[in-house]
Amino acid sequence: MGFGLAQRLIDRGDRVLIGGRSEEKLQHACAQLGEASTGRSVDIESRASLAAFFSECGPLAGLFTPGSSYQTGSFRDADESTAESAFRAKFWGQYWAVHAALPYLGERSAVVLMSGAASARPLGNAAYAACNAAIEGLTRALAGELAPIRVNCLSPGTIDSELWRNRPASIREPVFDNWRALTLTGEIGNVEDAVHAALFLLDNRNMTGSTIYNDGGYTLR
Ligand SMILES: NC(=O)c1ccc[n+]([C@@H]2O[C@H](COP(=O)([O-])OP(=O)(O)OC[C@H]3O[C@@H](n4cnc5c(N)ncnc54)[C@H](OP(=O)(O)O)[C@@H]3O)[C@@H](O)[C@H]2O)c1
Repeated sequence: MGFGLAQRLIDRGDRVLIGGRSEEKLQHACAQLGEASTGRSVDIESRASLAAFFSECGPLAGLFTPGSSYQTGSFRDADESTAESAFRAKFWGQYWAVHAALPYLGERSAVVLMSGAASARPLGNAAYAACNAAIEGLTRALAGELAPIRVNCLSPGTIDSELWRNRPASIREPVFDNWRALTLTGEIGNVEDAVHAALFLLDNRNMTGSTIYNDGGYTLR
């Protein structure tokens, strides 16, 4: 989703700074995105890495923080490392990313955080669900504390992104089948629609403190 948003921004004439842990993947992404992109390695779980990533990056009109990787597990079975993994990678990662970016955000800048619809309708994985709810709470808190910087959150349902495409079909397809039955649309979300929602939150000057559920009605059904 991060790459998809970068593409959309460049298509309309913006410049982007993108991050990820793999130098090779970054180079590949920048080769596809062209001259308006700059890639820098970053591990969102490390505050030192985040500080280096943003150092001297210049003024930022927007910040989107979809980069994270974590494990999930049930409340009964997850060990300490698994149970805390989503908070480490996804909650604290985004918290400190905004902190590191703050010197470069101006009064008209916008931040879009990333949660997930398990916040509103958990399906097991208690710590992961709670982490997403915490990110949506953080969105409201930061919208107040950092105003007039706008802070919003994108909370997708299942999106057919690389996260799923990199998993074996034997794992992905049963999840997708189940997801279709759990939504009102009966469809898996696509990256383009999720990116469209993120772009709306970045651009719309009347949006702050809000969470958009890009989930095909999953949280209602
Ligand atoms: N896809 C879904 O169904 C879905 C549903 C609900 C919520 N979400 C949330 O949406 C966000 C993005 O999902 P996605 O589908 O776009 O995932 P994705 O395709 O796996 O992309 C995640 C990106 O994050 C980077 N990354 C992973 N760990 C990182 C770290 N520690 N530091 C910096 N970059 C890191 C990865 O690159 P490297 O590995 O090269 O670092 C990858 O480019 C995640 O927070 C996810 O929880 C996704």
